[in-house]
Amino acid sequence: MKKVSTVTKIILSVSLLTFSCAKNKATSIEPTPILPIAETTLQATLPFPMGAAVNVSLLKSNSNYRNLVVKEFNSITAENAMKFASVHPSKDVYNFADADYLVDFAKANGKRVHGHTLNWYKSLPDWVTNFQGTTADWENLLKTHIQAVVSYFKGKVVSWDVVNEAIDEDGTMRNSIWLQKLGADYIGRAFQYAHEADPDALLFYNDYGHEFGPTKRIAILNLVTSLKNKGIPIDGIGLQMHTRVTQSDANLASAINLAAATGLKIHISELDIALNPDNNQALTYTSALGEQQAVKYKFIVKTYNAIPKSQQFGITTWNVTDADSWIPSNYNRPDWPLPFDAQYQRKAAYQGILDGVK
Ligand code: XIL
Repeated sequence: MKKVSTVTKIILSVSLLTFSCAKNKATSIEPTPILPIAETTLQATLPFPMGAAVNVSLLKSNSNYRNLVVKEFNSITAENAMKFASVHPSKDVYNFADADYLVDFAKANGKRVHGHTLNWYKSLPDWVTNFQGTTADWENLLKTHIQAVVSYFKGKVVSWDVVNEAIDEDGTMRNSIWLQKLGADYIGRAFQYAHEADPDALLFYNDYGHEFGPTKRIAILNLVTSLKNKGIPIDGIGLQMHTRVTQSDANLASAINLAAATGLKIHISELDIALNPDNNQALTYTSALGEQQAVKYKFIVKTYNAIPKSQQFGITTWNVTDADSWIPSNYNRPDWPLPFDAQYQRKAAYQGILDGVK
């Protein structure tokens, strides 16, 4: 038989004592409870949903990453797990394993899930890029994919980026496989298919470059306005806002305010602020750069916070920390675009975001 140690005996008698004190509540003096100091977090401070694009492998394997997401954000977007190639790898095969993991994580932790993305010219599996068929066959492919994915997540995913990046920098329609096979009206039909599969889901047109200047911005706003005027079920505009510390406030404000002037919901859907847009391989992070970044984050949040409340769908950063940002690997350069550093610590940019709603 195990010997009960003295320490265990002491613990036992202390807890018995606590128990008997609790029973005589009326007569005993209650110890002052030690309350944890309520820590400021993004989700608790911002008056609109605050999201991050989440990488499912990191969510599974890295507890620092996971804890940070749980603590700071109340909305999540799958960085890659809901894209065509991830969920629909061959014609008759759907694979929702990673997306399910993300949705279950969101449910367990009370987070909203924004779906990204039903139609894009990238992240297409070979079976789609090599697909041979008539216009009707392509239409069926588009419809089947959208409806299978949206119905699968009905009631779990509240909103979708239905069409992503369909406009080019010069304001013309991007010459994507979808435009080639189906003509420009595929965009409106993609929204209708999504709406049929989940009439409650909020549907967004998502793109980058509203802040580049008027050419692309006007083309996107004309597109969404014409969809709206035709009665196509579109609820919002996603401004990706992969931006840079040198972008002018005037351009950033025009991006947000002119999109809001459509009356649609506005999601800053993929926010990050590059510090090294010129690809300087020798650049290092300095506190001076960090401060400039904080000022830019603050400006974006402040401008966003000033549009009508009913149009504030939320702000989502693309990724969580500088360690998992897509920018360094995608552009092959050092960069630090996010409000958390590679050690999961808050940067000046974090305070900049909070200051935007002060
Ligand atoms: C990026 C992911 O972050 C990368 O991991 C992936 O290799 C490529 O796609 N615009 C979008 C996002 O709409 O889906 C992209 O995400 C970033 C640019």
